[in-house]
Amino acid sequence: MPFVQPFPTLARDGDAAAILDQTLLPYRRETRRLATLEEAAHAIRAMQVRGAPLIGATAAFGVALALREDASDARLAHALATLAATRPTAVNLHWALARMRARLEPLAPASRHDAAWAEAEAIRVEDRETCAAIGHHGVELLLALAARRDGPVRVMTHCNAGWLATLGAGTALAPVYEARERGIGVHVWVSETRPRNQGLLTAWELREAGVAHTLIADNAAGLLIARGEVDVVITGADRVAANGDSANKIGTYLKALAAREAGVPFYIAAPLSTVDFACPDGAAIPIEDRDADEVLAVQGLTEDGQLARVRLAPPDAAAANPAFDVTPARLITGILTECGLSTPERLREQCPNPWT
Ligand code: MRU
Repeated sequence: MPFVQPFPTLARDGDAAAILDQTLLPYRRETRRLATLEEAAHAIRAMQVRGAPLIGATAAFGVALALREDASDARLAHALATLAATRPTAVNLHWALARMRARLEPLAPASRHDAAWAEAEAIRVEDRETCAAIGHHGVELLLALAARRDGPVRVMTHCNAGWLATLGAGTALAPVYEARERGIGVHVWVSETRPRNQGLLTAWELREAGVAHTLIADNAAGLLIARGEVDVVITGADRVAANGDSANKIGTYLKALAAREAGVPFYIAAPLSTVDFACPDGAAIPIEDRDADEVLAVQGLTEDGQLARVRLAPPDAAAANPAFDVTPARLITGILTECGLSTPERLREQCPNPWT
């Protein structure tokens, strides 16, 4: 059975967009309506939507929202620039905007609004198919590992690269969901992913899907890998450079280092829309610095079930908050895309990106 998102991460709602507000998860499930360009830009910036493929699709929806009353050249340029400035690292955002620009700029303003919705919808539907293909290719890795073990295959992931990050089954978690469909036993180590705690989203997803998993503090990953309790590490990516260096959520690099030291395979799973062949290597990937407050305070539920934010750090503590790191290609066993499994070095040759 093809994977169906239990709750759509992004959908068209008349002349607006409906998103699942991820800033409230895993505590509350609320849909938010985005009716304007500014609301779409805010949703991306504030991480109401997050995850590279979902950010890209939301940006495409944002262009359609922007053109409702005015589809002039100036308005289109303003929409593209506003959305491009929301988050720097995930290249899917720029990929989606470039695609919208290429589709809309040659058209007369009167036809742009409908065409924008059609293109945004195409991006949404294609991502669902892309995730499914990543799942089909990736499950082969899990099948091979399962053949060598009695118990479940022990997968470690980082951040959230599941259905919440995409328009389909996810990227890193797509093989896990495919394995579940095929009756292959899998257990997932889920790292918390401070400071935004996207690991909690992963734990929530896996619980909803009935996939065995265990939440760990980020710092526990090295010990588990070294002790032989992890068969494979699979993470997503926000931008893969031409040489295979891959940016992903902060903390990914440490897992790759530990995996290499222990001889555990480390895979990146990402759509080709995350591959930036114009970016030569990891040093050229822009790394987002987010608000220090995300490190200094944390959100959770009080004992009486109220959603609350509490400060962790002493007054006036300084904090730095780089949101991504780069795993060098030499630490990556393989990159899974919709076109199959490739080594970082051979990605361009094996999987020519239809977009660049
Ligand atoms: O800051 P986020 O939550 O948008 O970042 C997302 C990630 O870095 C994820 O780890 C993911 O692997 C990339 S998107 C599938």
